[in-house]
Amino acid sequence: MHYLLPAARSARLGRRMALIAYDRVDTAAFEETRHLRDDDLATWRAAIGRHFEPRPGVRLLDLGCGTGSWARAFRTWWPGIAVLAVEPSAAMRERSMFQPVSAGAADDIPFPDASLDGVWLSTVIHHVPDLEAAAREIRRVLKPGAPVLIRSAFAGRHEAINLFRWFPEAVAVLDRYPSIPDVEAAFATAGFTATGCEPVPQVTAPSVADAAAGLQRDAHTPLQLISDQAYAAGVARLQEAARTESGPVVDALDLLVLR
Ligand SMILES: C[S@@+](CC[C@H](N)C(=O)[O-])C[C@H]1O[C@@H](n2cnc3c(N)ncnc32)[C@H](O)[C@@H]1O
Repeated sequence: MHYLLPAARSARLGRRMALIAYDRVDTAAFEETRHLRDDDLATWRAAIGRHFEPRPGVRLLDLGCGTGSWARAFRTWWPGIAVLAVEPSAAMRERSMFQPVSAGAADDIPFPDASLDGVWLSTVIHHVPDLEAAAREIRRVLKPGAPVLIRSAFAGRHEAINLFRWFPEAVAVLDRYPSIPDVEAAFATAGFTATGCEPVPQVTAPSVADAAAGLQRDAHTPLQLISDQAYAAGVARLQEAARTESGPVVDALDLLVLR
């Protein structure tokens, strides 16, 4: 168990945030465009419920909670459990719709040993600079046998995500993210074994036209890391799709569970 003074923690966190910094602009863009609508969370509620039992009093940590939409959903779905939230970006912590949010990171979690019944990481794992250090820290705070629930787009898994159809250059960015075997191997060093992995479908936007109208480059790490030319070409593809395609935008991200 270790606690840092706030200033020391903040300096350490600054060095640990990877890929993009989640400053005020990124945070606002994420908040405006990346939250799933409450009705569209049902597939995730069911998927998480297959691996995590929300018994009264259990403690579930939303690690890298961002603007807090998952922590808020957990509190709404399961009022009897204790939901905790940790986030390294001050801009995200300030705007979080779930409070309180503690400063911390995947390798620096401000909770005692064996104090948690589950850890949730949603679209966070690719930002973690040292997966083995994160796995050790998550092992420390979890009770034996409790699950790590990782929601992510993983390297090599672009085909179920429409964004990569419109922005194919962003596939190369996704392929720099950890793959499922990479995460399994890193967590194995801390004694974890994968106990489940499933693609979970979600309605990301009610229509392609909505997706096109609401797109914000700052809200998507893969779009921030392609060239301006590739981004412009993708926007043109998306606008063409908005004119010709009907129906909701359904993507699938993966849920990887380790214990
Ligand atoms: C794409 S956002 C996802 C936010 C939230 N989990 C969600 O799904 O809505 C990624 C988040 O990971 C956070 N993050 C970055 N590096 C991290 C680290 N090393 N440990 C924990 N969280 C981190 C970022 O600050 C940001 O809030």
